Amino acid sequence: MTIPSPFAAPDSSRVPCIGVFDSGVGGLTVMRALREQLPDVPLHYLADTAHAPYGDRSSDYIVERSVKVAEHLRAVGARMAVVACNTATAHAVLAMRERWPEWPVVGIEPGVKPAVAATRNGRIGVMATTATIASRRYEQLVAAHAAEVTLISQPCPGLVTLIERGDLRSPELDALIQRFCAPMREALVDTVLLGCTHYPLIRDRIQAALGDGVRLLDIEDAVARQAKRVWETLGIAPVHDAGIVLESTGDPAPLQHLAREALGWRDVVATRIPA
Ligand code: DGL
Repeated sequence: MTIPSPFAAPDSSRVPCIGVFDSGVGGLTVMRALREQLPDVPLHYLADTAHAPYGDRSSDYIVERSVKVAEHLRAVGARMAVVACNTATAHAVLAMRERWPEWPVVGIEPGVKPAVAATRNGRIGVMATTATIASRRYEQLVAAHAAEVTLISQPCPGLVTLIERGDLRSPELDALIQRFCAPMREALVDTVLLGCTHYPLIRDRIQAALGDGVRLLDIEDAVARQAKRVWETLGIAPVHDAGIVLESTGDPAPLQHLAREALGWRDVVATRIPA
């Protein structure tokens, strides 16, 4: 990846787009929602596959990768960013906003507030990466919104790695889901937050493990609506060819496969860029 000066403005010779990133394929769940909200805006997605999962990394590492990826997105013409990763949002969104105060950055965080509004028995589960649950931002989110409820924060190490392999129905994946769902079942939660953008890709497996009585919540659609509001403040003229670019710092095949199969973007091509 060619890294331009960190203080260079987004390349204005390029078609203006929204730059979106995640550690891997998970951010496609946000891309789906963005496409629905913003059909006329070019979207440029980077999966930092060579460095996934972020959820088992240190905070410094997540900040370093997020800044590098964001520099690439700025260089390809992104006028704003959507961090389609709860883990990168928890650790790096402030660093990104500090570095580029004029560049809007929309992040994604576990929807603790909507979950508190949705629960009927006051018992909520949160599935997220180890790094998200260990973050200061998550601690603050819980302190601000969940003081009155019982909250089971369930780190799910290993789930992202298995999802990245592409087999969303493997027995290995089911076994891990069962393990992580057991404590939440025992705690009789009635609402579970999918606090990692990879998890909606295995929503049906998680629902089966928790049972039909448990409501699963994610906030991808709310993030896309927020991104739309921000994009509209930029005053950028619509373009005729609002394409989708998919890139990966690792093997692009799983990204392309999922985009075609799960999102129905039949002609989309994912390419590899240097890590
Ligand atoms: N999709 C990322 C998230 O929302 C996964 C992070 C990881 O790579 O562990 O947290």
